[in-house]
Amino acid sequence: MPSSIRIFKARFTWLQILTHIGAWLPGIYLAAAYYTDNLTINPIQALTQRLGYTALVLLVLSLVCTPANTFFGWRQALKLRRPLGIYAFLYASTHFLVFTGLDYGFDFDILVQENLDKPYILIGAIALLILLALAVTSFQWWMKRLGKRWKQLHRLIYPAALLVLLHFAWSQKGDLLRLQGEVLQPVIFSLIVGVLLLVRIPIIRRQISRLRSALPRPPSKSQEKKQTWDPHKSRAGS
Ligand code: HEM
Repeated sequence: MPSSIRIFKARFTWLQILTHIGAWLPGIYLAAAYYTDNLTINPIQALTQRLGYTALVLLVLSLVCTPANTFFGWRQALKLRRPLGIYAFLYASTHFLVFTGLDYGFDFDILVQENLDKPYILIGAIALLILLALAVTSFQWWMKRLGKRWKQLHRLIYPAALLVLLHFAWSQKGDLLRLQGEVLQPVIFSLIVGVLLLVRIPIIRRQISRLRSALPRPPSKSQEKKQTWDPHKSRAGS
């Protein structure tokens, strides 16, 4: 089986193809469940929540890609960073549109009131604006145009992730300080994002890389060949 396949003019690895399929599946499932009335007794709320949740999961997965390459040498993960980030943005935008359009019929006055009553909505809006800026500038053209500033801009993914976590935790019916109610998921996601942020800090990153290089490495393919070399066979051949 070839390691990659050509679709139109671009080549895609199987992992990239699986990532695209995996990212589309929740959307297709949610659309089908919504249109066939299979989304709880409050389908709009269920749709809003599940779209938001999918956006969060994809955002966290996009944050895993760089450490996966840095610490495990998994270069293929770097190619997944952009599509995962863009899918996170698309799900978050749909989450926003379902809430403002389907739930509130784009009624500006009620939306402003909701924002005042539930400040986590404003936090979600700021996160969405950051994701919008990152998605728009994720193309090669912007990368060349912005030069060094591109990297600085794209570091905003971390504050965006923190805002999304705050938005998520705040939207749940629980008490984070007393660890009561629906707090388990926000706590788990915060721990994951916390670790992903910590391993980004240069001093911690260097320590982990040093530890990794001190560990015994599995033999490379050429070493394995040398180890299985049979001197008798070789003498017989000469
Ligand atoms: C203007 C932008 C946004 C608005 C108006 C908004 C609105 C909302 C609302 C109203 C809820 C509560 C739904 C409910 O429980 O009834 C919610 C929950 C949530 N939102 Fe957002 N949101 C926005 C941006 C985002 C972004 C950018 C993300 C992620 C990338 C996100 C992820 C979530 C998650 C994970 C939940 C909790 C879902 C659950 O209960 O499982 N939101 N949002």
